[in-house]
Amino acid sequence: MVDVKSICCIGAGYVGGPTCAVIAYKCHNIKVTIVDLNQARIDAWNSDKLPIYEPGLEEVVFDRRGKNLFFTTDVDAAIEEADLIFVSVNTPTKKTGMGAGMAADLAYIEGATRRIAEVATRSKIVVEKSTVPCRTAESMRTILEANSTGSIHFDILSNPEFLAEGTAIKDLLNPDRVLIGALQTPEGISAQKSLAAVYQNWVPEDRVITTNLWSSELSKLAANALLAQRISSINALSAICEATGADVDEVAYACGRDSRLGSKFLKASVGFGGSCFQKDILNLVYLSQQLNLPEVADYWQQVVIMNEYQKKRFVRKIISTLFNTITNKRIAVLGFAFKKDTGDTRESAAITLIKDFIDENAHVAIYDPKVEHEQIYMDLAEPGVVDNRKQLEKSISICGDAYEACKGADAVVIVTEWDEFKSDQLDYQRIYDNMHKPAFLFDGRLLLDAAQIREIGFKVHIIGKNELAGTA
Ligand code: UDX
Ligand code: UDX
Ligand code: ADP
Repeated sequence: MVDVKSICCIGAGYVGGPTCAVIAYKCHNIKVTIVDLNQARIDAWNSDKLPIYEPGLEEVVFDRRGKNLFFTTDVDAAIEEADLIFVSVNTPTKKTGMGAGMAADLAYIEGATRRIAEVATRSKIVVEKSTVPCRTAESMRTILEANSTGSIHFDILSNPEFLAEGTAIKDLLNPDRVLIGALQTPEGISAQKSLAAVYQNWVPEDRVITTNLWSSELSKLAANALLAQRISSINALSAICEATGADVDEVAYACGRDSRLGSKFLKASVGFGGSCFQKDILNLVYLSQQLNLPEVADYWQQVVIMNEYQKKRFVRKIISTLFNTITNKRIAVLGFAFKKDTGDTRESAAITLIKDFIDENAHVAIYDPKVEHEQIYMDLAEPGVVDNRKQLEKSISICGDAYEACKGADAVVIVTEWDEFKSDQLDYQRIYDNMHKPAFLFDGRLLLDAAQIREIGFKVHIIGKNELAGTA
């Protein structure tokens, strides 16, 4: 078993950055070097303004940076120095070619793996940390073995990351479990123990689970698919609630009290987003198709179909409530991130909603407390459209606070559940006074106290609750 003294993390993104910063924070005797090809990203990690917003991240990074935590673009030197290398690069969904729209593009994984093979002059443990389809470790092993010489040996581990954005540091400091998969050979098991020992500096031993390589890889996809499936299930029920007068919060609570079901992840919403859920399910669908299991593929595909339906259903509801047209109306969108406490917008429901509003010729006023304005323009830009920015600037305004966004609006739409949008945080009377009447409010996050908001005069629609019930 190797006593790990030096770790390199390839990829300074949402996963690699926080994960390896926490390892440095908890293991002062290990030198952790996080590398990336993107100079701007590394510069940001070395500055006062980190490239990612994540509660608690600054404390961890500022505490260890320059001591046993380093950020650099010198990939080769860090590979050479490391006993153990995390590969934590991006694995976007393929845009073209075989499996387009579903399969993960493994070009970055392959690039990083080939670099390790070229640079390493001694044996290394290589850890697959990115979310990848099953059997990626096998491909990495093939590349590394084909390129290893004589005395150099590579052990491949799968160590999927289960952190959720917005709570990444909390999740990393106190994980439900750490999963480490390895080939069940003496060398594989020894490497597994080496990585387990790193985590055991702060994670109780019984929370470190060891499995074979394939179980570990599949567990990551399965965990995300099961979580997303719960959301699609409660969202499907939210449609029934709206049609019947049942209340989705009450239904979720009543079901969640069954200890076999549990209460978490049953919050109906305008649809799940984030970089993982859709991508991992589509990976699972693609894998099932490849394995000639079409019924299994269709089963998981339905989770994504339901998510798309939920977003479209919400848009339809807004348009029909606003007398079947939103042309030239001002729609205030509160929240652009895919969930609260993050500046990340990947697959955010806000993007789908706003594009639909723009297609209907509405003017959309957007406010989010953490998302950079440039990011919003990038997310809403249509590829290939000339002068897209100018057109977008006519259709949207990005505002400095919720009051500015809602001023003169016909409807307010809550898309992200930021605490600052709650009924006791935002002055909804002030918002109401400055809106066109009737003033409509659509809550896609079950965030508001409906009775209180209706008292002000708003016409309120909340996902999973009977429409406009109780309004004057
Ligand atoms: C997810 C997994 O939780 C994490 O374990 C994995 O490592 C990465 O993917 P993340 O995407 O960061 O994490 O956020 P998560 O909290 O899971 O939320 C995903 C989406 O589901 C968000 O858009 C969120 O708003 C939505 N959601 C979540 C609901 O609509 N209802 C819920 O009850 C929970
Ligand atoms: C179920 C509900 O559990 C109960 O709350 C409701 O009131 C009636 O329906 P029951 O049908 O008696 O109860 O048995 P249950 O233990 O839920 O099992 C149902 C079926 O699922 C069985 O065939 C069982 O073997 C199977 N099952 C259950 C699995 O295949 N895997 C599991 O993990 C659990
Ligand atoms: P994730 O959410 O999985 O962490 P990100 O896209 O946030 O994904 O981060 C992945 C990072 O990996 C990017 O900053 C990218 O520049 C980096 N990267 C990709 N390939 C390589 C490589 N071969 N060497 C170093 N860094 C890489």
